[in-house]
Amino acid sequence: MKKTIPGTRNPTALLRIQNLKKSFQMGTVTTDVLRGVDLEIFEGDFLAIVGASGSGKSTLLNMIGLLDLQTSGKIFLKGHDVAHMSDDQRADLRSKVFGFVFQQYNLIPWLSAFENVTLPLIFARKKIDEAQISEQSKSIGLGERMHHRPFELSGGEQQRVALMRALSNDPDIIIGDEPTGNLDSETGHRILDMLIDLNKMKKKTLIIVTHDASIAKRADKVIILKDGLIIKHQLKNGRVYIA
Ligand SMILES: Nc1ncnc2c1ncn2[C@@H]1O[C@H](COP(=O)(O)OP(=O)(O)OP(=O)(O)O)[C@@H](O)[C@H]1O
Ligand SMILES: [Mg+2]
Repeated sequence: MKKTIPGTRNPTALLRIQNLKKSFQMGTVTTDVLRGVDLEIFEGDFLAIVGASGSGKSTLLNMIGLLDLQTSGKIFLKGHDVAHMSDDQRADLRSKVFGFVFQQYNLIPWLSAFENVTLPLIFARKKIDEAQISEQSKSIGLGERMHHRPFELSGGEQQRVALMRALSNDPDIIIGDEPTGNLDSETGHRILDMLIDLNKMKKKTLIIVTHDASIAKRADKVIILKDGLIIKHQLKNGRVYIA
C-alpha cells in the first residue's frame, strides 16, 4: 500500500498529479514511460526530480508544463483539470504561467540572443525593458553576447540565454531540465543562486530535473524516479517517504 506524505492532501496545491501515466507507441511497440505518478506541488516549492537516465524525468516535466498530454491520470493546475482545456487554453496558460529551460536549449537559430530572450514578451504583448535585460545579461556574464546568434555562442552561453528567456515573462512556475548541466561549476552555482533567490524572495515555484547532488541538496523536496515511478520523496528536514 502506498504511503502518502502527511498534510499533503490539500485541495489548493498549485499542481496536483494523480496516477499519471504516459506511454509512447513506436510501430507495434508500446513503451510505458510513466507508470502512475502521484505528486503535489505547492506555490513556492523548490522541487528537485532526480533519477537515472531514461527514468522518465523529462517526460514528467513535459506533462507538468503542459507540453504534452498524458495517456491517463490527471493533472490539476490550481484545481483545474488541464486535460479538459482546449489546445489554445493550454498554450495560453503555458505562455503565462511557465518558464522553461530545457536540456536542449531550443533557441531560435536565426534570432539574436536578445531577440530570443524577448520573444515571450512579444507573444504576450508585454513591454520590453531593455535596461533591465541589459542589467540581467551582465549579471549572468552575457553582457557582450546579446546581439550574437546562438551558433556564435558556447553551449553554456546558450543555456544562459535560454534561462533569461524562461524568466523574461515573469512566470509563476520555473521548470528546468538540467538547467545548469552545461555550465562550469561557478556559473552553474551563480545561476542556481539566481533561481533560488526567485524561489525564496518572489515565491516562484521551482521544478528542476538534475543529476547534480549539490542542486538536489538545496531543494526543499526531492523525488526520485525509477522506471516511471516515484520511489522516494525526501524533504529538506531529512524526512524520507518511500512510495
Ligand atoms: N517521444 C518519445 N517517443 C518514444 N519514446 C520516448 C519519447 N520520449 C521519451 N521516450 C522514452 O521514454 C524514456 C524516458 O525518457 P525521458 O526523456 O523522460 O528520460 P529522462 O529521465 O529525462 O532521461 P535523461 O536523464 O537521459 O534525460 C526513454 O526510454 C525514452 O527513450
Ligand atoms: Mg531528460
